[in-house]
Amino acid sequence: MNIAIIGVSGAIGSALLEHYLANGKTTEIFAFSRTPIEHPDERVNAVSLDLTDQKSIEKAAARIFSQSLDLVIAATGMLHDKSEGQLQPEKTLKQLSAENMAEVFAVNTIGPALLLKYFLPLLKRDSKSVFVALSARVGSISDNRLGGWYSYRASKAALNMLIKTAAIEYNRLNKQAVIAGLHPGTVDSGLSKPFQARVQEGKLFSPKKSAAHLVSVLENLKQKDSGKCFAWDGQEIPA
Ligand SMILES: NC(=O)c1ccc[n+]([C@@H]2O[C@H](COP(=O)([O-])OP(=O)(O)OC[C@H]3O[C@@H](n4cnc5c(N)ncnc54)[C@H](OP(=O)(O)O)[C@@H]3O)[C@@H](O)[C@H]2O)c1
Repeated sequence: MNIAIIGVSGAIGSALLEHYLANGKTTEIFAFSRTPIEHPDERVNAVSLDLTDQKSIEKAAARIFSQSLDLVIAATGMLHDKSEGQLQPEKTLKQLSAENMAEVFAVNTIGPALLLKYFLPLLKRDSKSVFVALSARVGSISDNRLGGWYSYRASKAALNMLIKTAAIEYNRLNKQAVIAGLHPGTVDSGLSKPFQARVQEGKLFSPKKSAAHLVSVLENLKQKDSGKCFAWDGQEIPA
């Protein structure tokens, strides 16, 4: 099995990498991150990729032979500025900033759209192949009951729309490809760290546990699921 994981420096991305390395069927993993990782396993091919730089995405994808991948996982994303700077999820419209919003969309929406552009042609056509991007339940418009987190919610809702639109196009181009969004649950990571206080006991997954759930969901995806978004437990998340 040939796999590409984008965002292997992240909590969930690195857990997915280890999950697939523990699987004897994995032959090669292209492991993308802004700064290439160092990994002792010979099956890991570490390559740099910055989601905010189109050329870097194009160059990174060019390292892979066309139609050779079984699976692409985009495990990147941002909710806040980890250096505790000015970029925090907005509680009110008063906190909206064009600059911050553009940054969140660049990472959560435009970058993954370019991953669809450059990585979908690399999926196999002679057997089932899968492209999944980590989205979030809060990207569901119909499920939005709490409000807040304007940029993050909107960037993930837009990501879900891009996934749906690419799935319609790819249903014509590669009938074996399934394209979906996945919600990993609430996972202990740098992204969720400042917001974990109100998470109910037992509801905060380790990255390893979330990765195991996500793999089980993506392995069960069928052609009819293409374009949809699923949670860690396999439940479809409404748009
Ligand atoms: N954790 C949760 O509770 C939770 C809940 C719902 C959805 N999600 C989604 O799950 C995904 C992964 O989240 P996580 O919890 O694993 O967060 P994380 O540990 O913060 O990982 C985020 C990853 O995104 C990468 N990234 C950010 N900006 C990038 C850029 N410009 N170019 C390339 N890579 C970039 C980071 O790379 P660097 O290391 O270089 O910064 C890192 O690898 C995200 O899409 C998130 O929205 C998470």
